Amino acid sequence: MSEWTQVAKSDDVPADGTFPATLNGEPVCLYNLDGEIFATHDVCTHGNANLSEGFVVNGYIECPFHQGMFDIRTGEASAAPCTVALKTYPVKVEAGVVWLRQA
Ligand code: FES
Repeated sequence: MSEWTQVAKSDDVPADGTFPATLNGEPVCLYNLDGEIFATHDVCTHGNANLSEGFVVNGYIECPFHQGMFDIRTGEASAAPCTVALKTYPVKVEAGVVWLRQA
């Protein structure tokens, strides 16, 4: 199992917004859904867009390039043109600090 890595403070992640971070050099996007933090890879599986520049809509992230969508909780591609799931990461929050590790 991989090590937990500190990537942000939970206060950095706005409600229903995004926050870009890195995990061992890998770009990740953090989300805050009803106070719970989730993390996916930050690069859309359809193209070279950063999802942290996209829009959170009812638990989904909408890509800023072609409006494809992914389920933030599972990474599942949920709207065309996206068909390949996003990588997701286990998250833990302790004392206001967000930690991630590779799944
Ligand atoms: Fe994200 Fe095309 S790059 S939908």
